[in-house]
Amino acid sequence: MVDLLLGLQWGDEGKGKIVDVLTKNYDIIARFQGGPNAGHTLIFDGNKHVLHTIPSGIFHDKAINIVGNGVVIDPVIFKKELEDLKKYTIDFKSKLLISRKAHLILPTHRLLDAASEISKGKAKIGSTLKGIGPTYMDKTGRNGMRVGDLELENWKDKYNALAKKHLKMLTFFDVDIQFNLKELEEEFCKAVDVLKQLTFIDSEEYLFNAMQNNKTILAEGAQGSLLDIDFGTYPFVTSSNTTAAGACTGLGVPPNKIGEVFGIFKAYTTRVGSGPFPTELFDEDGKAMAKIGHEFGATTGRARRCGWLDLVALKYTVQVNGVTQLNMMKGDVLSGFDTLKVCTSYTYKGKEITHLPYNIEPENVSVNYTEFKGWEADLTQMESAIQLPENLITYIEFIEQELQIPIKIVSVGPDRKQTIFR
Ligand code: GDP
Ligand code: IMO
Ligand code: MG
Repeated sequence: MVDLLLGLQWGDEGKGKIVDVLTKNYDIIARFQGGPNAGHTLIFDGNKHVLHTIPSGIFHDKAINIVGNGVVIDPVIFKKELEDLKKYTIDFKSKLLISRKAHLILPTHRLLDAASEISKGKAKIGSTLKGIGPTYMDKTGRNGMRVGDLELENWKDKYNALAKKHLKMLTFFDVDIQFNLKELEEEFCKAVDVLKQLTFIDSEEYLFNAMQNNKTILAEGAQGSLLDIDFGTYPFVTSSNTTAAGACTGLGVPPNKIGEVFGIFKAYTTRVGSGPFPTELFDEDGKAMAKIGHEFGATTGRARRCGWLDLVALKYTVQVNGVTQLNMMKGDVLSGFDTLKVCTSYTYKGKEITHLPYNIEPENVSVNYTEFKGWEADLTQMESAIQLPENLITYIEFIEQELQIPIKIVSVGPDRKQTIFR
């Protein structure tokens, strides 16, 4: 069986931390979508690491880490990620396996991403500019280059043809982008040489055999369900299926082999980049969340927008993913708030609704809150569920009641150790 771990909001829920915590229970950790737009932070033994393409099980001795076919890989960023891990003497050749069917992000994909965003002006997506959109466009347009192509003698011909096409496409955007193609290509080729030192596999076959041998597998999602290309706040989304179904297509795992679905959410909500966010705060409460929660993007460093927990949205993503257990992150950040608010319904076209409607822009919905008493206690040193303050338990039990799914992990700090099981 394959368990899934997914973000239920707009990303940055703390997936990296929890994958790292859970890895001891698994033989294999596999990323199934997204690419270096992801930034997954792990903190243990006083060290902090941000992973972009490499699965968050990499720091454990036993686990095999797989980059699945649904992921898009930028060799340049990947090389840097490997270099950042040098001090750990990890045997990447045997512990980090790459699907031949994963698509490659070319330097020109990044340029196209930038050009597309600039040309959109105010309507920009707020992309991480890692070339994600253009790469998935080439994948679905059947023009892409894949990791397996790098094993061909003539991969550079393929590269050149695609890059040439991209340069032509760039001229369609009426924007001025400065770049040194020669430098970019040199950097890319060097990085490809590094990537080629790793082990390429047919990951669907590998995972099939692993399942035959009763290996335990955890699929690690990137981004969040509200950034899903189909179910997210389109067009302000990423270009892959971040929801549960994405694990099937992104790894070649059949739906009837999916076991537990871990849904991760923050005790409040954040979003980075553009797009609607009904519970967004522009007041002191929002500022406090951002400050106490250190809400800055792990990939781009941009400030994350903050707001109250949105149970209408959360109910929707629990539903779409078939979540079987919830993990609540960053509860510690809410210590010290007098009153906490949770959005329990929207007013949409004058009517109160509890499902996520097609339009959630401010002109279409307003939010209705249920209020809770806050707690003063610092949670970050707590080690067991019985230590949690009563008002927090009330908050947790209300969410469980509304979503009809148990919250089994309460995270009370960024460190691996600051994790409470219920
Ligand atoms: P991911 O993309 O889902 O892996 O999440 P990110 O790493 O982008 O963002 C989560 C941020 O919150 C990181 O800086 C984590 O170190 C931090 N974090 C994770 N869990 C907790 C928690 O329970 N409390 C606090 N205060 N920080 C946390
Ligand atoms: P992790 O895995 C938060 C957002 C971007 C932008 C939109 C599209 O760390 O949770 P893209 O680069 O994909 O074209 O950007 O999606 N976004 C993320 N926000 N966490 C992420 O990943 C994200 N990956 C993309 O900010 O709004
Ligand atoms: Mg992140």
